[in-house]
Amino acid sequence: MGQKVSAAVFPVAGRGTRFLPATKASPKEMLPIVDKPLIQYAVEEAIEAGATKLVFVTGSSKRAIEDHFDTDSELERALIASGKDELLASIRGIVPPGVACIYIRQGEPLGLGHAVLCARPAVGNEPFFVHLADDLIAGSPGCLAQMAAEHGRHGGSVIAVETVPRKHTSSYGIVAVDASDQDRITEIVEKPAPEDAPSDSAVVGRYLLAPAIFDKLEKIGEGAGGEIQLTDGIAKLLSEEAVYAYSFNGVRYDCGSKLGYLQATVAYGLQHPDTGAPFREHLKDVLSE
Ligand code: G1P
Repeated sequence: MGQKVSAAVFPVAGRGTRFLPATKASPKEMLPIVDKPLIQYAVEEAIEAGATKLVFVTGSSKRAIEDHFDTDSELERALIASGKDELLASIRGIVPPGVACIYIRQGEPLGLGHAVLCARPAVGNEPFFVHLADDLIAGSPGCLAQMAAEHGRHGGSVIAVETVPRKHTSSYGIVAVDASDQDRITEIVEKPAPEDAPSDSAVVGRYLLAPAIFDKLEKIGEGAGGEIQLTDGIAKLLSEEAVYAYSFNGVRYDCGSKLGYLQATVAYGLQHPDTGAPFREHLKDVLSE
């Protein structure tokens, strides 16, 4: 019923002020979890879900992201010369053949809705993913692949949600759904105070959106925080077509916060084939001190 989704948009223009000074000259999306930057986890999740067009909406100081997904012939030659085949494979396979990277500058930081609108010329008139790399989701299959399957079942736009403590509603887009209609969203509000929130179901950084969102984003003005909010565009969209909330299978780490970033590092460090066993021992020692 739904269409295949081949474009994924990565809004990566934010300054990452919560991680200063680490993010003074390097984008927050390049912060590593064990040995891969956040943006690489994002790209891998989108490719697993079928994306072949990766659209990065960038800002100033984001050149490292373009370099990361580009070929580095000098480094490849050095790894070949020293016989480091595994490392060579790890840098060569980042963007597989048939997948294209497109970079668009946001110009001014006018908000997430504006960033998504900047991607319009590259996306065209098709449904597309939006992936916020700050929200790292461990899941198998990944969250976007789950959402693509959900879209295949009933069409429409699909937004990933999870339940949060009510006192945290002011950090998220919050939705109300019609449970008798496959969790179709009836209301969405950006960062409401707990007493104003329509539920405790929070939007996490994964969206599968119909292209009709672009016209909505063109028309909305500034919303919460004086920014053009994706949430406000979705609020307009759902009055005209179906937008569903989707409770994903997996664990989300809020890598936009220091604590979430450390939690992700521990979780992925414990899973990683190189570090898992010795890291577990180390943590036991540290915690028993
Ligand atoms: C953005 C969205 C918000 C969503 C959140 C998920 O907020 O505006 O609706 O719940 O991402 O991470 P941000 O975290 O960029 O302030």
